[in-house]
Amino acid sequence: MKATIAYLPGDGIGPEVGGMAMAILDAVAARFGHEFHINECLVGGAAIDATGDPLPPQTRSTCEAADAIFLGAVGGPKWDGDGPRPESGLLALRKLLGLYANIRPVRPHPRAAAASPIKPEILKGVDMVVVRELTGGIYFGKKSRETDSATDVCTYTRTEIERVVRRAGKLAQGRRGKITSVDKANVLETSRLWREVTTRVITEEFPALELEHILVDAAAMYLLSRPAEFDVIVTENMFGDILTDEASMLAGSMGLLPSASLGDGPRGLYEPIHGSAPDIAGKSLANPMASILSGAMLLRLSLGLNTEAEAIENSIDSILSEGYRTDDIASNGERPLTTSQVGDMIAGLVMG
Ligand code: IPM
Ligand code: MG
Repeated sequence: MKATIAYLPGDGIGPEVGGMAMAILDAVAARFGHEFHINECLVGGAAIDATGDPLPPQTRSTCEAADAIFLGAVGGPKWDGDGPRPESGLLALRKLLGLYANIRPVRPHPRAAAASPIKPEILKGVDMVVVRELTGGIYFGKKSRETDSATDVCTYTRTEIERVVRRAGKLAQGRRGKITSVDKANVLETSRLWREVTTRVITEEFPALELEHILVDAAAMYLLSRPAEFDVIVTENMFGDILTDEASMLAGSMGLLPSASLGDGPRGLYEPIHGSAPDIAGKSLANPMASILSGAMLLRLSLGLNTEAEAIENSIDSILSEGYRTDDIASNGERPLTTSQVGDMIAGLVMG
């Protein structure tokens, strides 16, 4: 097949890990006879430096014209001052493309359990997907700033909640049939609406699913005490942001978790859940697996290429099974591989 992919490397380790993901997509194209046109564009701090705008018009139009978008990472201390922030480019892109459902699977690899701070017996059987609402809530509400006060308004509409809950419901139907909605309904009005709408959508449209509601503070605890009991978690934007960083510790590292951001159509934005990690940028220390696995999600969810996605996922599985490690998941005394060594190994396996 022919497909056009917008590639936005961004900042920090973004270009290093994103470059590996693009190399793997090239390997997939060669092995399976596809033609992927990769259009690189600026986003985040890199775009601010070049144009003053974290999401320049040319990047917008390239992404709108693409079948799928891949993003490395954005942000860094260099842009912490008063000017535009790199992160606002990513947020604007999610909004522009209507990507309201952020899918973040968490399935620790049994052989990488030593990398997790959580006891192996608690990690046994952990296999969950967090569906994070991505274009609403406090991230996108009205903001104000005075010298001595500031506000961030959290707003949700019924429609915004319905569509993301529906997406999570469909996902749970194809899995173990359990859905956990996370909110703060004991304090927040938006959460009370969230709970009401979620209950209606699931009981009316997905009656076979088991639905539970839990408060976000308890969810933070259960993620560590009984993570294997979660199947699909659906939650609002900021709770999902926080809980998925926490959940990444079950897998052992943020460097292992991919994500997909989807709207109503097939076009999606794919990115590792980790940030730009400026402290390790340029040192070939970063783990490219989250990025490469995001490429696999791109193939499956935007291009419908299941076999190709599995070829990537199986390669990463076997590399971890054989004990190869990057710096983030290496145990004491283990000599880690570099970003490109791991990328090359995965490319080799994908090529078969
Ligand atoms: C994420 C990131 C972003 C977010 C930042 C970079 C704006 O933390 O994708 O989880 O908060 O959504
Ligand atoms: Mg985050």
